[in-house]
Amino acid sequence: MELSQVQTFLAQDWSCFQDLFKKALSSDEPLLKETNAYLASNEGKMLRPMLSLLVSRACGNVTDESIRVAAASELLHNATLLHDDVLDQSASRRGVPTVMSLLGSKASVLAGDFWLVKAVETILDCRRHSKELLRMFSGTVSDLVEGEMLQMEKAGKADTSLMDYHDIIFLKTASLFKTICSAAALTAGASSRIENALMNFGIQLGMAFQIKDDILDYDGDALGKPVGTDLREGKITLPLLKALEKQEPRKQASIRRMVYEIPQKDGNVAKVADFVKENDGTALAAVTLQEYVQRAKECLGPLPESQAKDWLMKLADYCEYRTI
Ligand code: IPE
Ligand code: IPE
Ligand code: MG
Ligand code: MG
Repeated sequence: MELSQVQTFLAQDWSCFQDLFKKALSSDEPLLKETNAYLASNEGKMLRPMLSLLVSRACGNVTDESIRVAAASELLHNATLLHDDVLDQSASRRGVPTVMSLLGSKASVLAGDFWLVKAVETILDCRRHSKELLRMFSGTVSDLVEGEMLQMEKAGKADTSLMDYHDIIFLKTASLFKTICSAAALTAGASSRIENALMNFGIQLGMAFQIKDDILDYDGDALGKPVGTDLREGKITLPLLKALEKQEPRKQASIRRMVYEIPQKDGNVAKVADFVKENDGTALAAVTLQEYVQRAKECLGPLPESQAKDWLMKLADYCEYRTI
């Protein structure tokens, strides 16, 4: 599946989303204008608004509020990336230099704040459900902060456990997918049974999405985001955790020690990456990924058959097979 096919399927709804999204970003301040134009010309996959609109469609009703939820989801997502690139000190994203590396951390934080507020305003202007939607999105913003904080704390110690890892990826990634799916269902007037099914779909899909991101950090083709950055940032993700699981406690401790010393010994990155390769870390992580994708698809069971539901199924598969 190509993501552009989803846009074609969404047709008019997609162009309404794009109009609203672009309108939200206008500013007369020259540096902010330049930053926003740069981000607009290097857009990402736009997966979150696609997910949002497909969910509303699958519930049978794309409302003005559904378009707002789609726009807010992409605005918030970009805000978190602008902040995340400062936290991770990432030099490139989407195949181009980050705002952080071009204009500095201060500009990236401020632009992120702007996008975050635009997401809030977009929700505030919802006519019927603004309060509930704001509550959902606020919950996710706190989750995101907690996820990044927990990850930062763990990265300094190299002691991330499998449970920590699951907590982190739920908070920093799956929480937004969860909110998008519940919010999109709410705006479409879905029953609480359907909304609940879609909320669970969002959680499983979000977990899968982040696991794939973490696999690509070992296996990717260096397009978009450079490979090996997680280790360099001291992040212990699923491929390494799966490789560690196969080892005796003593070996585990020595590998964790290597990760801990990466800031002083850059050569350890290659050594740990080799360890992951030798122990099939990414293949083992891919098994967990597959389980999440499978569970995501099962969550769609209660939804009536529709083309939008079929696209949601394909989107779940895409999260497993994507290469970027
Ligand atoms: C990147 O998300 C951040 C994660 C949650 C892994 P995407 O891979 O959706 O980013 P873009 O918007 O397509 O660049
Ligand atoms: C996801 O984590 C970031 C957010 C949810 C903001 P990552 O740090 O792995 O994302 P990338 O790899 O930089 O896109
Ligand atoms: Mg990052
Ligand atoms: Mg990543």
